[in-house]
Amino acid sequence: MNSKKTGKIYLNYLFMIAVVFIPCFVITSCVEEKQLDDIVQQTDAPAVALPGLPDDTAGYDKWLKINAEPIPPVAGGDPHNGTKNVYVNQERETIAPDGEQQFPYPDGSIVVKEAVRPNKDYIGLIAIMRKKAGSDPDHNDWEFIEYTRNSPDDEFSILARDGTCWGCHARVEDKDYVFTEID
Ligand code: HEC
Repeated sequence: MNSKKTGKIYLNYLFMIAVVFIPCFVITSCVEEKQLDDIVQQTDAPAVALPGLPDDTAGYDKWLKINAEPIPPVAGGDPHNGTKNVYVNQERETIAPDGEQQFPYPDGSIVVKEAVRPNKDYIGLIAIMRKKAGSDPDHNDWEFIEYTRNSPDDEFSILARDGTCWGCHARVEDKDYVFTEID
């Protein structure tokens, strides 16, 4: 084989490599980029409130959870019947500087308690306390409201508010009306 012919064969090989591999490489990197875009989009997606709940509760389950372990139903009658978690839209350092919880909660605090009803596997109750300066000085400016639903596809609707809640929560007036302390 003369060198001219060998050169031509090499050129053919190079051409094949270019035709086959370059598009493959381009397609693969595009796909990877798209997957990355999807992931970024998912993590950047704005949190949406559960159906029927106010917008300011969106993403509450990413807030500071103040109980370390789920709170079990209270035997013999539970005011918020179910297995519960309590979240607050504050930093740990703000409400418990140096690990010591301080009261009262700052203005603008929102405490959200979720409960999974006994023998159910979805959140059926959301109880909210919102601290709004000047709204109710007799009850440390907390607004109380509770929502429930009876199926995971239902919207939440208001069950009770303020007056229904004060009597019981006043038992912990010294802890700014909040039973659950930070763990
Ligand atoms: C009969 C007593 C009682 C009544 C009435 C009551 N609660 Fe509670 N609530 C509790 C207890 C006890 C806890 C903490 C332990 C638990 O959830 O089991 C609690 C916890 C909460 C929490 C989580 C923060 C915390 O205090 O630990 C929120 C929020 C809350 N209740 C909102 C409400 C709202 C809103 C109402 C009225 C619609 C209400 N509660 C009525 C007894 C009561």
